[in-house]
Amino acid sequence: MDLKLERVIDNELKSKPDESNLGFGQYFTDHMFVMTYDEGKGWHEAGIKKYANFSLDPAAMVLHYGQAIFEGLKAYRGKREKIYLFRPNANLERMNVSAERMCMPTFDTKEVLAAMQELIRIDESWVPHAKGATLYIRPTMVAIEAGLGVRPAKSYLFFIILSPVGAYYPEGFNPIKIYVTDTYVRAVSGGVGHVKTAGNYAASIMAAVEAQKKGYTQVLWLDAVHRKFIEEVGTSNIFFQIGDELITPPLSGSILPGITRDSVLKLTKDWGLKVSERPISIDEVLQANEKGTLKEVFGSGTAAVISPVGALCYKGREYTVNGAIAGELSQRLFAELQAIQFGIKTDPYGWTVAV
Ligand code: COI
Repeated sequence: MDLKLERVIDNELKSKPDESNLGFGQYFTDHMFVMTYDEGKGWHEAGIKKYANFSLDPAAMVLHYGQAIFEGLKAYRGKREKIYLFRPNANLERMNVSAERMCMPTFDTKEVLAAMQELIRIDESWVPHAKGATLYIRPTMVAIEAGLGVRPAKSYLFFIILSPVGAYYPEGFNPIKIYVTDTYVRAVSGGVGHVKTAGNYAASIMAAVEAQKKGYTQVLWLDAVHRKFIEEVGTSNIFFQIGDELITPPLSGSILPGITRDSVLKLTKDWGLKVSERPISIDEVLQANEKGTLKEVFGSGTAAVISPVGALCYKGREYTVNGAIAGELSQRLFAELQAIQFGIKTDPYGWTVAV
């Protein structure tokens, strides 16, 4: 990839936000990576330039029919100021799966990873130093051809933007409260729930807003057919520890194959836990809670890392989980993942990639 570089001059660099109060996705760095695709020409005009607005035709197809996909990964500042990425190839490969499902062009993951690393090196001073804070990386692809026919666009824009972030949830690592919806559904088998396309998130907002009005941080989605089997949280996958079994719903085609989910499965299997990827109904979870065998519930995701769940609300009743405190397994997983991600602990899996 021929990478054109246009650096922002020193006196135009932005001032940095307060690292103790970053929130999530509110600040953006000085540069971004951009490349363009045109049918017959492939990907071209790849470059790193000043973070700035795009100019789009009002008929740009993404604005009408939503051909938009994205990824989320993070850069971590570790020991001796070294910067690491966590399983970036898995994110870029998943993005190509999303591209195929949405009839968008795929790209060379090695070239894009190299461009991403270069972008992070240029904006290196934005990788936070504060404990637990990271630089969130958002690769995105949208259809930019002007046209109102419903068909795959012939032109696309691929960009990567960077945002220094703190915890995704205001609760930090404290348990969140989740609303189990049987009114709305997120995805259906044969649909696009297994890929990271913008529409999945747009469709989730109404349920999230209603849940928030009732005092819940997130929505737990059930399957669209029976409204019974647990799917995911939308911003993360979900795990249940019942007795000595750690359970997460299988990749049935309507949930996102989370990279943190996969990492949790690998770690817990290596720790000798009994781990199952199997259908689990909301009734099974609540019955286990009644019986006292539901030990822990936690979400897993790039933004969410490991998020303990302290309460579930279903059909108007709230169920407290594990006394509303972060469980042992959530704590161990959080600590282990962060130790690997920040390069504090040797990574036996080959997950970390130095920038
Ligand atoms: C992520 O975990 O990176 C996500 O993309 C979830 C969300 C913030 C949209």
